[in-house]
Amino acid sequence: MATRKIRKAVIPAAGLGTRFLPATKAVPKELLPIVDIPTIQYIVAEAVAAGVRDVILVCARGKDSIVDHFDIAGELEAHLDRTGKHELRKQMRAIAQMANVVTVRQQEPLGLGHAVLCAKDVVGDEPFLILLGDDVIDAKVPGAKQLADCWERHGLGTIALMEVPPEETHLYGIAAGTPVDGRTMRIDRLVEKPKQDAPSNLAVIGRYVLPPRIFEILEQVKPGVGGEIQLTDALAVLAREDGLLGHRFEGDRYDAGDRVGYLKANIAYALKRPDLAPQLREWLREVTR
Ligand code: UTP
Repeated sequence: MATRKIRKAVIPAAGLGTRFLPATKAVPKELLPIVDIPTIQYIVAEAVAAGVRDVILVCARGKDSIVDHFDIAGELEAHLDRTGKHELRKQMRAIAQMANVVTVRQQEPLGLGHAVLCAKDVVGDEPFLILLGDDVIDAKVPGAKQLADCWERHGLGTIALMEVPPEETHLYGIAAGTPVDGRTMRIDRLVEKPKQDAPSNLAVIGRYVLPPRIFEILEQVKPGVGGEIQLTDALAVLAREDGLLGHRFEGDRYDAGDRVGYLKANIAYALKRPDLAPQLREWLREVTR
């Protein structure tokens, strides 16, 4: 049987963003911009580049403005037309047409695993992508597409891995396993934030292609660290019972949920913009001298 194509993506966006307070008191962290584009727009664009049409945003109270970003802004478009800014108007309309964006609500912040479970009925019985907005990936082949390709090649759930320095393994979920090909391995151990004896230096980052079976597992998972339903716990069960691959993706990843990571992302993306790079580069040279 041919492996089913990935058509749906779940983007959990119901977290409270406490690491970014006070910015996130009234503004969802997903709308904080990297240069002039909200983080969530990069994430949706990455999902679309992997073949996704339906994007399921897991939202919470106070986060409706994320959905507005993907809607048609009639008054704004009319104003841009009246003032002759037709190109900008086209760009605003294109954002509303990127994907079919639907939302589900996570009524209480009971963890990432629980947020994913909230999308169960909308995903239905098909494989799907999960993308976390905290991880922004700059890559020639978009990160989610690299994972979707791996899923199509092997027909097994696949999660993104990245090498980290040994002194940082305690900050991540860490995976170890048996090589399948150059960048892919079959995972046989998955440890959440190991305090010591990390099984490898391969960290799990926020991109996953998973079979619908993950929902059954999540329904059984007991609350773990912090009383939350942890996705990692469900992934460990999936790895043991059905098999799970880890794929070392190619590209640069920024932790946009962390202040320094967010600042780095802004500088890196601005330095790639011909309209901004020359001025910024000159200023950076001055202030870092
Ligand atoms: P994080 O723990 O990094 O996000 O969860 P957070 O809670 O928003 O951030 P901090 O730590 O308080 O600053 C990773 C992802 O899982 C989502 C978050 O929105 C984020 O995209 N999440 C987390 C949920 O959707 N629901 C939850 O209950 C927890």
